[in-house]
Amino acid sequence: MRLVLVGPPGAGKGTQAEFVAAHLAVPKISTGDIFRSNVSQGTPLGVQAKRYMDAGELVPDEVTINMVRDRLAEPDASEGFLLDGFPRTTPQAAALDKLLVDLGTALDLVLELVVDDDEVIRRLSGRRTCRGCGKVWHVEFDAPSQEGRCDRCGAELFQRDDDKPETVATRLREYADKTAPLVDYYGAQGKLVGIDATGPVEDVTVRAIDALRSYS
Ligand code: AP5
Ligand code: ZN
Repeated sequence: MRLVLVGPPGAGKGTQAEFVAAHLAVPKISTGDIFRSNVSQGTPLGVQAKRYMDAGELVPDEVTINMVRDRLAEPDASEGFLLDGFPRTTPQAAALDKLLVDLGTALDLVLELVVDDDEVIRRLSGRRTCRGCGKVWHVEFDAPSQEGRCDRCGAELFQRDDDKPETVATRLREYADKTAPLVDYYGAQGKLVGIDATGPVEDVTVRAIDALRSYS
């Protein structure tokens, strides 16, 4: 299955992507994770992306599209994938459609995680990420047993730089201006399914998997 997860920053795309990709046995491809890994390794791509990410702005389409094109060419994505955080603009969506046409295939479904701004702000302000294994926690909604330490691997947790309140405000504006139009784009293709992304993580996963079942 070829699936896209769309939703505002902090909607829980990364959290749900883990479960849904495992359920479908497809790779989870997160452009945010790929950019962050390039930033931490200091690659040319990372250096280029960092200033946009720090400001809460989108990395330019051309850079992002080339990166995804390379990733989708890897063998593990040939039978299916779950894209988390891409596409994020109408040109990115059009480029993805074209790329898949060239490969003789198409997207099956776009799952929209619907959650309001207040909940997003609560989720982002309490998010903590593990330095060791990358697992995402939340100080209130999914707290590790020992404060500041990952239960899975024991490493230290940190707060993402772009989760500062002023950067979150910019990310929400970027989402409203540039990404929200994708709801119409994919709605017009008949591929969009919206699910309520509030409530416990497990409940959202059940809604996501039910949505896939009814559309596959
Ligand atoms: P990216 O990493 O994609 O950031 P984002 O879309 O803002 O999404 P987040 O990772 O912040 O949130 P999420 O929806 O994955 O939520 P999570 O599961 O962590 O992108 C970062 C930057 O990279 C962008 O700003 C841009 O600069 C660049 N970039 C990336 N892709 C790009 C593209 N295509 N084009 C251009 N630039 C791009 O959950 C959040 C918190 O809530 C966690 O603490 C979690 O534990 C908690 N939580 C999750 N679900 C629940 C629940 N049901 N109840 C309570 N808490 C929950
Ligand atoms: Zn860990």
